[in-house]
Amino acid sequence: MKTDRLALRTAHKDDASQLEQFYLENRDHFMRFESLPRNAVAQLHQWYFEECEGTARRFLIVNPEDVIMGMCHFTQIFRGPFQACYLGYKLAEKFQGQGIMFEALSLAIPFMFEKENLHRIMANYMPSNERSARLLQKLGFIIEGQAKSYLFINGKWEDHVLSSLTNTDWRPPE
Ligand SMILES: CC(C)(COP(=O)(O)OP(=O)(O)OC[C@H]1O[C@@H](n2cnc3c(N)ncnc32)[C@H](O)[C@@H]1OP(=O)(O)O)[C@@H](O)C(=O)NCCC(=O)NCCS
Repeated sequence: MKTDRLALRTAHKDDASQLEQFYLENRDHFMRFESLPRNAVAQLHQWYFEECEGTARRFLIVNPEDVIMGMCHFTQIFRGPFQACYLGYKLAEKFQGQGIMFEALSLAIPFMFEKENLHRIMANYMPSNERSARLLQKLGFIIEGQAKSYLFINGKWEDHVLSSLTNTDWRPPE
């Protein structure tokens, strides 16, 4: 999937060093709202197994020179009567404020609804994460509630706002 200024692609083992660099350069930027992985190689292994099991779809957001600008993840894919998953994302600090994540998710979300036939995508964020709140609102996510002490981030349980987007065109698989 691509537009003029970005492409979404799956990660492969050759991305390890670029991924390490991405986390290193943006450590302070990400640490406010998320825990970071300890090891990019181990993370790439885990992503590969989840992809094989069908429990996650993870996309790197790269520019036309294949530089990693960010990533978006659809994880914990539930089937059966739920047909839902969780959405997570992050963008390098230097690429913020240009609508890159909005553009990437405007490709990825229809893919998850149309090709993966999911009915619900859930995305949760810390109340202080105003950029995330604005992004999800622009994408049509609806706030469903607040969860106290929801995620353990950087040594502390953090409250989160719970939101979701549903696929009104969902049809049961044939
Ligand atoms: C959350 C995060 C992905 C949002 O990134 P972002 O670049 O601010 O998000 P968007 O892609 O929606 O871009 C938004 C801004 O780009 C600007 N913009 C420029 N061109 C645009 C376009 N073509 N379309 C949309 N927005 C555009 C808009 O003015 C918008 O700013 P505004 O919302 O203040 O009006 C980013 O801040 C991030 O990675 N944060 C750290 C990690 C994190 O918080 N992850 C999520 C945990 S829940």
